[in-house]
Amino acid sequence: MPPTGRDVTAVISSQHREIVRLIQHVDDTTGTSCAQAFHRLRLMVAVHECAESLVIHPRAAMMAADGATVAAGRAAEERAAGDQIWDLEESMTGSPAFREQFADLAGAIRRHAEAEERHEWPLIEQIDNPGHAHAMLDLMTVVPDLVEAPDAPDRAQRFDQMMAWAERKLRRAAKSIQ
Ligand SMILES: [Fe+2]
Ligand SMILES: [Fe+2]
Repeated sequence: MPPTGRDVTAVISSQHREIVRLIQHVDDTTGTSCAQAFHRLRLMVAVHECAESLVIHPRAAMMAADGATVAAGRAAEERAAGDQIWDLEESMTGSPAFREQFADLAGAIRRHAEAEERHEWPLIEQIDNPGHAHAMLDLMTVVPDLVEAPDAPDRAQRFDQMMAWAERKLRRAAKSIQ
């Protein structure tokens, strides 16, 4: 069966669940484990949001009269969350200031995922062009592999460096998929 938009949202859904799991892991840990969990969350968010910005939001923008507004809203939420992560990187992981700011970030990430699911997915799920669905599916499927890649940015790297790395890797992957 050729893929459809519903196959694409199924893959995004599993990544949203993974992000929620990683948020919980940061909440539940202290010390080095918390720093490792926060690194993993930053990396996952960087690669996931980057992939969405390359193939999901642009396609959603084409699917309805208000598609561009819906997609721009989601992109703005992603930029705001990125700014919050940037601020958090200044705090010592696990400190009271970190915990307070992290609770705000976690709320923002959860609301952003819910907004995608409520407003953007109905547009994506209308896609019945197998070529379009295939390209989106293939790139979103690369996300977990990149998070595990041996050359993925380490804990010392900041979020903007993770985003730049993710974009480079995903653009390369998109070329080889075409
Ligand atoms: Fe997103
Ligand atoms: Fe998402």
